[in-house]
Amino acid sequence: MLNKNKLFIANWKMNFGWQASVDLASTLAKDLATNPTKVVLCPAFTSLAGVAKSIHDSSLSLGAQDVSWLDKGNLTGEVAAATLKELGVEYVIVGHSERRQYLGETEDMINKKLQAVLRSGLIPVLCVGETFAERQQERKDFVISGQVESALKDIKLNGKDLLVAYEPVWAIGSDQAVKIDEAEAAARVIKQVLIDLYPDIDVKKTVGILYGGSVDESNISEFTGSKLLSGVLVGGASLHADEIFKMVAKMNIVK
Ligand code: PGA
Repeated sequence: MLNKNKLFIANWKMNFGWQASVDLASTLAKDLATNPTKVVLCPAFTSLAGVAKSIHDSSLSLGAQDVSWLDKGNLTGEVAAATLKELGVEYVIVGHSERRQYLGETEDMINKKLQAVLRSGLIPVLCVGETFAERQQERKDFVISGQVESALKDIKLNGKDLLVAYEPVWAIGSDQAVKIDEAEAAARVIKQVLIDLYPDIDVKKTVGILYGGSVDESNISEFTGSKLLSGVLVGGASLHADEIFKMVAKMNIVK
């Protein structure tokens, strides 16, 4: 059952080393102690243990930016879902567009990673979204629904939580967040695919849709105020404590 509070997932990407991650996590853990919004921090793999320690006993949660599709074995440099879980990770980002674009992550790999995350009892945050060219070709809905379908191929949710983040590729790090009606339209497309795939489960209870792409203090209330969205995935604006406080304060108001 999905957390009923709106989610703020901070994707720190490759921006912080161990010390900077731990410092920011400690500040947030202290100052967001009684915060009703669910804040999830996703540092680099190497900082997970340090951040886990900093947010221990706080209301914050830990997320990872990626995962291996294998449960264990000979796969140099990869990290298994069980290893993440051992460190206190609860959420795992899968299929971020930067990995699709620059690291050769395929639909098949994303499908296997999703399976691994669900198998281990963690909550996947599946990222989908069209490129600017696909949008210009009027293929946006087709691309989004295709990505959701192939990521979930042969996967039974059986009541497990799933988060899908709509992140238009061109809106990431560009200061060009989409308007709320567009994010809601994409959320409807995603929800329709899920309803078609999972007729037996209550999609409302176990699946949440997020928006990501240039979310900041000026626009966050629009997204988190929407009934169709369960929260936001934030990159650039999640790198500074003061910006996070301002964004989360706005989320608390619209809750
Ligand atoms: P951004 O990144 O907030 O910097 O646009 C979002 C993301 O890539 O998840």
